[in-house]
Amino acid sequence: MNEETESSPPLVGRRTVVLGGTGSVGEHFVRAHLSAGADVIVPSRTEARAALLRDDPVVRSLQPGPRMLVGDYVSFAGAESTAEVILAEHGPVDHVVATLGSWWSGAPFWGVDETTWQRYFIEVTSAYAAAARAWLPRLSPDGTLQLVIGASGVVPVPGASVISMAQSSLVMMRRVIAEEAGDARRVFSIVLGNLNLRRRGWRRPDFVDADDATTLSVALAHGAQRSAEFVLRRPEQAKTALAELSSDVRIPAHSGRTPAEDAS
Ligand SMILES: NC(=O)c1ccc[n+]([C@@H]2O[C@H](COP(=O)([O-])OP(=O)(O)OC[C@H]3O[C@@H](n4cnc5c(N)ncnc54)[C@H](OP(=O)(O)O)[C@@H]3O)[C@@H](O)[C@H]2O)c1
Repeated sequence: MNEETESSPPLVGRRTVVLGGTGSVGEHFVRAHLSAGADVIVPSRTEARAALLRDDPVVRSLQPGPRMLVGDYVSFAGAESTAEVILAEHGPVDHVVATLGSWWSGAPFWGVDETTWQRYFIEVTSAYAAAARAWLPRLSPDGTLQLVIGASGVVPVPGASVISMAQSSLVMMRRVIAEEAGDARRVFSIVLGNLNLRRRGWRRPDFVDADDATTLSVALAHGAQRSAEFVLRRPEQAKTALAELSSDVRIPAHSGRTPAEDAS
């Protein structure tokens, strides 16, 4: 049930699962959904990665913080059982954000070995597929599945063929799912170019701010927008996408700094 009132943050009473929430991109989505009032759950494959997010001082400054769950959530069976555990222990899930996998570049395609192929193509696309299979049937009817995808999926990156091909297949996965689901499910891809990320500790004006992408994510969760693909490769594309959503969503500021840093 949505407990939202006129003055409350937009996702109060809602629950979001962030897959890959321990990562450099994912932690921005975790903080954005927490700041918007959602109950946020983050599965992680390892306790060490879970601790990275849980013990982050910026994340700790947000109360209540994310609920962590350690175990396999990336195999088909693991994704199903993780979904069942979350639903049983916490209740209905409205939104799932998936931001999985990491960067690789190093050789032209004909120099890619099988280990690299398995790790950066098979494992990553399989994890997204497992997430979509497990969560689409279980989401609240007005919920969203949001796939965060690298822009190498829409623009070829020489030397990073495996990543480009994996991300490209995810772009198509969402398009197919959206066609199959029709109006029964809201499925989005947020396709991102180079990002300004808090963990990097530096910022470039020509990079998209990760917090603009997460503002879009919250607006999609809060609004009634039908399934769509958003490609944000330049900062102005993020601003335009937000403006075009014409949502009256109220997003609380989350500066990515601790209260102590904000005060300094
Ligand atoms: N970094 C950027 O500048 C950037 C820009 C645009 C788009 N993206 C996209 O954003 C996504 C996440 O990137 P990131 O930089 O946040 O990566 P990251 O820091 O390595 O985090 C990715 C997270 O994904 C989870 N994961 C699950 N299965 C994985 C697998 N097979 N391999 C690697 N990680 C796996 C891990 O969580 P657990 O270990 O806790 O399970 C990890 O914390 C990717 O799809 C990437 O293409 C990134």
